Amino acid sequence: MKPRILIVEDERAIRLALSGLLRREGYEVEQAERGGEAIERLGGEAFDLVLTDLALGAGASGMDVLRHSRELQPETPVVMITAHGNEKVAVEAMKLGADDYVPKPFDNDEIRMVVRRGLERTRLARENRLLRARVERDYGMGQLIGAGSAMRRVFETIQKVAETDLTVLVRGESGTGKELVAQALHQHGSRRSRPFVAVNCAAISRELVESELFGHEKGAFTGADARRAGRFEAASGGTIFLDEIGDMPLETQAKVLRVLQERSFERVGGRAPIEVDVRVVAATHRDLEADVRSGRFREDLYYRLKVVEIQVPPLRERPEDVPALVERFLENLGERLGRPPKEVSSEALACLCRHPWPGNVRELRNVVEQAAVLASGENIGAQDLHLDHAAAGAGPAPTSGLDALPFSDAKRRAVEAFERVYLLRALHENDGNVSRTAAAVGMVRQSLQQKIRELGLRSDDGSLVDE
Ligand SMILES: Nc1ncnc2c1ncn2[C@@H]1O[C@H](COP(=O)(O)OP(=O)(O)OP(=O)(O)O)[C@@H](O)[C@H]1O
Ligand SMILES: [Mg+2]
Repeated sequence: MKPRILIVEDERAIRLALSGLLRREGYEVEQAERGGEAIERLGGEAFDLVLTDLALGAGASGMDVLRHSRELQPETPVVMITAHGNEKVAVEAMKLGADDYVPKPFDNDEIRMVVRRGLERTRLARENRLLRARVERDYGMGQLIGAGSAMRRVFETIQKVAETDLTVLVRGESGTGKELVAQALHQHGSRRSRPFVAVNCAAISRELVESELFGHEKGAFTGADARRAGRFEAASGGTIFLDEIGDMPLETQAKVLRVLQERSFERVGGRAPIEVDVRVVAATHRDLEADVRSGRFREDLYYRLKVVEIQVPPLRERPEDVPALVERFLENLGERLGRPPKEVSSEALACLCRHPWPGNVRELRNVVEQAAVLASGENIGAQDLHLDHAAAGAGPAPTSGLDALPFSDAKRRAVEAFERVYLLRALHENDGNVSRTAAAVGMVRQSLQQKIRELGLRSDDGSLVDE
């Protein structure tokens, strides 16, 4: 496609000379004699470059053409032709967004060069934009990978709300990438050069959560031997990410609500209100609606947080993202190890796409990295994947073949089958450590020990029995 140039020049002789010159250069050339005519055409047709005289007789001037061109076709460069000795106007034009200027009288080489330069810049700008858009569309935003439409919708929402200061609630199962979404919101907004402060509300003890968030004055409590700024202050001007907000104690919820409403708080043990300018992003994997109903979570805070809600879908609902994620994880691992990334066989990839991933992207990442490290060659095959088939529900359903048994026997067997699957998965998740598993599933350690013996979950060498 030939580049299209619009020449705006009231002097017929110059106009014809310019269009002849540029046509010979291989461009498609359109001409306008008056500024108004040029502006009208800019409203209806696309041009790759506008070359306009500054003085255009009566009516709209070259400056008007420039102004309208910037507005109607912001990517199209405008080159001004100015009368000799009128550099001040030329500078003015550049300030208004003109790309370049040529003083009259000009020679043909000058025009050729200025036009070529302008067109080259547009080409590069467009190419860049397309490339960026394509990369973002195909693979995601920054660190966030997503090839399918589900994640694309997430990216679109991020893009739309990142520039605003609206409070965002990110929801999704564990390991779906909620933290990465929060980071992307920060990175794509105007606060990107200011701090991003993540607070894991579930990991801070009840006693310390307030001093952690709001800071404390010296002597506020035993051990507070110096004044300390909290996370809200640390995030000043930037974004505070309240992760696992569903796990925050009720008393703290009230204080956080106040920050959201009044944009100010007090340090623990302090009286003076401190103003904060922070953007709040919160995340949870919990069913907040249920928590509101049961009184575990404040309803007013719930509504304050969910101004914008971003739901990150579980990985099993977007298997189309698996190949791109696998590729990225292998690349990252290769970089960390200083080796070229290993390849995945199509059979292995098919397994990965079929797996239901109860632990979502985090689990996929672990499985892929483990396989890459353990695979002996450069290729990762299906046999290198250690997928948790208990969780995948592979193999016979635990209740198959029970129909013929009396109810009490059938029930005992079904419960046993359930216990096996459930406890094996929990044990695996905790590396076989009985105390940790017991804590994770809410059992007394001794009962879990007993169950492990009853169900024969360990072989004689102490390893877990998988099948
Ligand atoms: N879309 C994605 N692209 C690339 N990596 C991802 C993506 N989603 C998740 N990950 C990776 O998976 C892991 C878990 O992500 P993240 O910590 O953001 O999940 P989460 O939803 O906050 O989980 P949790 O609820 O357990 O805190 C991280 O290592 C992250 O880098
Ligand atoms: Mg998280």
